[in-house]
Amino acid sequence: MAKDFVESPTATCDRQEEQVSAPEQGSPGRLSRRSFLSHLGAAGLATTASPLLASSGAAPVSEEIQETASKAAQGAIPITLKVNGTEHRLRLDPRTTLLDCLRENLNLPGTKKGCDHGQCGACTVHVNGRRVNSCLSFAVMHPGDEITTIEGIGEPGHLHPVQSAFVEHDAFQCGYCTSGQIMSAVAVLKEPVGPTDEDVKQAMYGNICRCGAYPNIIAAVQSARKRI
Ligand code: FES
Ligand code: FES
Repeated sequence: MAKDFVESPTATCDRQEEQVSAPEQGSPGRLSRRSFLSHLGAAGLATTASPLLASSGAAPVSEEIQETASKAAQGAIPITLKVNGTEHRLRLDPRTTLLDCLRENLNLPGTKKGCDHGQCGACTVHVNGRRVNSCLSFAVMHPGDEITTIEGIGEPGHLHPVQSAFVEHDAFQCGYCTSGQIMSAVAVLKEPVGPTDEDVKQAMYGNICRCGAYPNIIAAVQSARKRI
């Protein structure tokens, strides 16, 4: 009966998890996806927080997690990144994206993670003045580059003209895409973009707004270009 095949997504996931995590003949060391991810997260946490944990007297992490963190630390490489005018000396796993580095290592959460696949523009930052989807770029590719995030272009009481225009034109709803939209717009206004709304729309086609605030976003960009 059809009913036999109807399962909630959760049930399906759980079943897949069980299938993946079930020990296989000849593969005694196989990890489940959930277990692997939890170890990976714990490794990142342990790597970044270990000096803090060591000095704060927090409960010790398990040996297994320490071993995983130690292996991750062994592969880390030193790099200096210049973000918003400040140099940061870091040791990073070479697979760390620029987006994760900004958010997790440098505590700059203004840059958002939407799709993490280069398809939404929420993670837009500037590298040497040009727009970059930070989820598609490895942090270790940027020694010596001038990286700018939303935190670096304006602040309360001293907003960038594009930020002010977004506020005046009500160019956001949930706000999740907004930092990416603003970073994109700031760069667009330095590019050879035509004068019409359609030109602006084309120039910013990589920045998706799930709330559909596009008319107000275009109005804000057009307004800001008159002040810059
Ligand atoms: S999070 Fe980078 S493009 Fe969507
Ligand atoms: S304002 Fe909500 S996604 Fe753009």
